[in-house]
Amino acid sequence: MGRLRRLLPLAVLVGLAVGWRLWSRRPERRQPGSPCFAPAYDLATGPFEGGVLGRLRRQIAGTAAGRVLEVGVGTGANFRHYPDTTGLVVVDPNLFMLRRARRRARSLGRDADLILALAEALPFRDETFDTVVATLVFCSVADLNRSLAEVRRVLRPGGTFNFIEHVRARNSLLGALQDAATPVWRRVAGGCHLNRRTVKAIEAAGFELVRLEERQLAVMPLVAGTARSK
Ligand SMILES: C[S@@+](CC[C@H](N)C(=O)[O-])C[C@H]1O[C@@H](n2cnc3c(N)ncnc32)[C@H](O)[C@@H]1O
Repeated sequence: MGRLRRLLPLAVLVGLAVGWRLWSRRPERRQPGSPCFAPAYDLATGPFEGGVLGRLRRQIAGTAAGRVLEVGVGTGANFRHYPDTTGLVVVDPNLFMLRRARRRARSLGRDADLILALAEALPFRDETFDTVVATLVFCSVADLNRSLAEVRRVLRPGGTFNFIEHVRARNSLLGALQDAATPVWRRVAGGCHLNRRTVKAIEAAGFELVRLEERQLAVMPLVAGTARSK
């Protein structure tokens, strides 16, 4: 019963996403990102913010320092966790997410530059930032390796990359289920892949893992960590 209740927000998210998918097929409805995804996302993740997700966010955003870039900011769920002194720039390609993030930044009195951009083509010079933060983003980017290469490019050498991601399970049965579900899931959940081996990709992109914590978010394996640009 408890598990069913925890899965309810995910069911709401899928329902809204399917509805949006059908509605948005009409050409005049095409937008840079779905307007439904932003409110549905807050609804779906809300129940977890008081638990494991909120705790990991506190750790990941709370240790950001210097010039900070957040990639795929979504609705700004990390804003409340940044230290007050942080100079913050955030990007997301979904205008509706950015609008919510702007409202949240205002309501928290958080000073942040919000920019419409993709992780695959970050509009910043090399070595601009001391810290890059990304939470639950690399499951959704179209090109994982290119996005990570961009994160490394805009970080100063020795800079810090703080992340939270859900990833492919080590358990082979659960991993196979994630592989099978991903083609459908990504169509209804904003391009989200359930089965990415993101930690391996982070290391392959030239980062050294400094810390890695493995947790569970409902049925999804979650990793939170810090990597240093080599
Ligand atoms: C699951 S949401 C996570 C939002 C937020 N980071 C959080 O932790 O709540 C994924 C976000 O990644 C963004 N996104 C998708 N593709 C992206 C890309 N190629 N580059 C940057 N952000 C992207 C989506 O618009 C969405 O806001």
